[in-house]
Amino acid sequence: MNARSHGRPARLVTTLVRFMADRFPMHKLNVEAMIQKKEVPLHKMSWAYYLGGLVLFFFGIQLITGLLLLFYYQPSVSDAHASVEYLTRYVPGGALIRNVHAWSSSAMILTLLVHLITTFAMKAFERPRELTWISGVLLLLITFGFGFTGYLLPWHQIAVSATKIGLGSIELLGQYLPGSLADIPTRVKEAIQGEASVGQATLSRFFAAHVVLLPLAAFAVLGLHLVSVQVHGMSQGVDVPSRRTERFFPFFVLKDASLWGVMFFVLVALALCVPFESFFSYPLFEPYDPLGSTPDGIKPEWYFYFVYYPLELLPFWLVNLLMGAAVGVLLLAPWIFKGTSRKTLRMLAAGAATYLVVITLFGDAIYEMLKGGH
Ligand code: HEM
Repeated sequence: MNARSHGRPARLVTTLVRFMADRFPMHKLNVEAMIQKKEVPLHKMSWAYYLGGLVLFFFGIQLITGLLLLFYYQPSVSDAHASVEYLTRYVPGGALIRNVHAWSSSAMILTLLVHLITTFAMKAFERPRELTWISGVLLLLITFGFGFTGYLLPWHQIAVSATKIGLGSIELLGQYLPGSLADIPTRVKEAIQGEASVGQATLSRFFAAHVVLLPLAAFAVLGLHLVSVQVHGMSQGVDVPSRRTERFFPFFVLKDASLWGVMFFVLVALALCVPFESFFSYPLFEPYDPLGSTPDGIKPEWYFYFVYYPLELLPFWLVNLLMGAAVGVLLLAPWIFKGTSRKTLRMLAAGAATYLVVITLFGDAIYEMLKGGH
């Protein structure tokens, strides 16, 4: 080996180490500086700085209520449904905890999506915050994973049928792959499912993922996210940097805490007055019956509508291609939109937000309009 070829790997390692050192200047992670020096810019989008903290609050609620649910939940096909039923009907406060868990999961996903859209519009992914952004995208995927795996756990007719449809769609991908590759999606589906059809092995795996694997992954990635937010401070967020700022401690923190307090009461009030299941018009919360049919009009949770309705309306391969591309664009956003102005980013963000709102609120009507006549 000559000196030149020795030099290349060494240069690569140096570049990588420099990249990481720039993104994680750990000497800046200093509680005293955070309390005494950290400032939050004040401008017309300052409200968006509260969103990440709000997601954190809902995530905390999920952890606490989830742990309490674990005291009673039984992850077996014979007992899962009965254990949830028992908890809801006979355990004091059980229905409240379960409803708070359900409401807070929706609130977390909604806030998370708004957090993503606003940080995008504010170009908060710009250097040196690339890893803050990428860890955020991973947190989004992990959160969808929580939603998908949690849905199966009560083991009622809708839960199992919806999971079957979700897992079944992985298998459909095989038809677009050539030769021996065509087998891979079926293998992946079986690996997740654990057996020929959705059953005990699937429930055990989803349970393990929901209460151990995904929380561990979330802790690790969230740690990275929050450390990088602390070492870099809040980004400017607007084109003309604001001269006005607010002390993080105590002012911003106090407002953060007040918002969390209000949200806590909203969650408890919703959980007490509107059981989450009351949104379903059909009484399908009976235990899953393997001989029963897939219920008509079965749909996933609202936060999957953005992919569910396109799957109903467009060719399967196209939707998969678009979703894959969307995840790729999100992960590479710091590089793809490096030279893009905040004005253009705000327009793109508004377009994405409009799509999500329209498809979530009016997906059913759009479906009826386009497919109803057939
Ligand atoms: C479990 C999910 C998440 C939690 C708990 C969380 C939490 C936070 C917190 C507490 C902050 C600081 C306050 C703020 O600027 O709002 C923050 C900032 C940030 N988050 Fe997240 N986040 C999550 C997911 C995401 C996602 C999905 C993205 C985008 C893909 C994202 C991108 C960012 C960026 C770029 C910043 C820096 C903002 C700035 O410096 O102005 N986060 N996050």
